[in-house]
Amino acid sequence: MKRKKSGWIYTYAFFLLVASFFVFVAYADINVGMNFMSIVLMGIFMVLVVLASLFAIPISSRATIVVDTSVVFASLLLFPPPWAGVVTSLGVLIGLLLSRPKPLDLVINSSVRFIEVSVTQIIYMNLGGTFPPNFNQAGVIWAFSGAAIVYIFLDRSLISMAVALFQKIEFGRAFSSILTRAFYEDWALILIGILTALVVEVQPWTLLLAVIPVGIVYIALRNSLRLEVLTLEAVERMADVIDYRDPYTAGHSQRVAELAEKIAKAMGLPTDEVRTVRAAARVHDLGKIAIDAGVLNKPGRLSDEEWDLMRRHPLLGAEIISRFPEFARGADYVRYHHERWDGKGYPFGLRGEEIPLGARIIAVADSYDAMATDRPYRKRLTQDVIMQEFRRGAGVQWDPQVVKAFLNVMGEKETKGEGPAPDRAWAPT
Ligand SMILES: [Fe+2]
Repeated sequence: MKRKKSGWIYTYAFFLLVASFFVFVAYADINVGMNFMSIVLMGIFMVLVVLASLFAIPISSRATIVVDTSVVFASLLLFPPPWAGVVTSLGVLIGLLLSRPKPLDLVINSSVRFIEVSVTQIIYMNLGGTFPPNFNQAGVIWAFSGAAIVYIFLDRSLISMAVALFQKIEFGRAFSSILTRAFYEDWALILIGILTALVVEVQPWTLLLAVIPVGIVYIALRNSLRLEVLTLEAVERMADVIDYRDPYTAGHSQRVAELAEKIAKAMGLPTDEVRTVRAAARVHDLGKIAIDAGVLNKPGRLSDEEWDLMRRHPLLGAEIISRFPEFARGADYVRYHHERWDGKGYPFGLRGEEIPLGARIIAVADSYDAMATDRPYRKRLTQDVIMQEFRRGAGVQWDPQVVKAFLNVMGEKETKGEGPAPDRAWAPT
């Protein structure tokens, strides 16, 4: 889905560029003995930043993680401002030009890098840090710690702001998800950066030694992120297979996931929570794996025994997904997706807010898809009839707040439904 970018992202890019310029001018005349070795090292570090950019780890179709924290942190301890900023942001610029040159990306990423490195250096100097760092100096640990905290915080904040403007979400939401991304790995990489900076000027060949721990962190991070993506895909495929067993429900889980995500967003849930709701919705009927295809596709009434089995699918589904860390948070939403607001649902008969919000959202999305698609025993309902059902069922079968958000998503007015509440559940199974 392509969304129109808001003008704010351009304003932000312009602001970053101007800020970078002022920081550069303010520090351009700092004259701390730069020797030949420093200049050679600056060149090597720039190449390393470019390489890191070329080996970025994809974490979704749009986002990647660049593992260059060690190089950047070592640079900012070694080369006085503005040179560390210049070297590392030039590295980012060249890396992006070689991999995915988009003007806005280039401006934002390279200015963010320049600002975060230069500001971190200012804090570092104020805490008594020197270029290159001197481990024997009193209080140097505080200078390192202060610099590390400021760097992580600035990096995450400036990037979160760009993501918030790009995706048109609140800053806090973007920040909370970006802060935790590769969080521990970043601290380890900073530590490697500090150690590298401490020894590299004396023994330049030690730079080669630093490659090993950085490589290990890189591979571990890449594998864990890849495993996360693969697990996610495998479980989702399993959900699709279940949908395909019944020709009438092919693509059901995918559609329910999309709608549940829209409703969750419309209700203003945090990004993380939206993601959890979507993931749970994507696999909400996974428990049907235990149900025979003959029973699933049976056009007539189910026997008591078959119904018993059918009613257990939310429990079974929840149990399966709770074993996968990427889905575990949504296990409760799967477990309760057939509960009803009035307490007449299954398997526990919970009512109202006893049912987790995520499950109440999935219930609405699931019901909509059941009504909007053909089933063996009936044709799909018209949009008018469906909306009428939802208006009447708000506060009876479904959470009225969720229905309100759903109607907004569908571009419907929130008028009160007329006529008696439906006593027959539009029960998706
Ligand atoms: Fe279900």
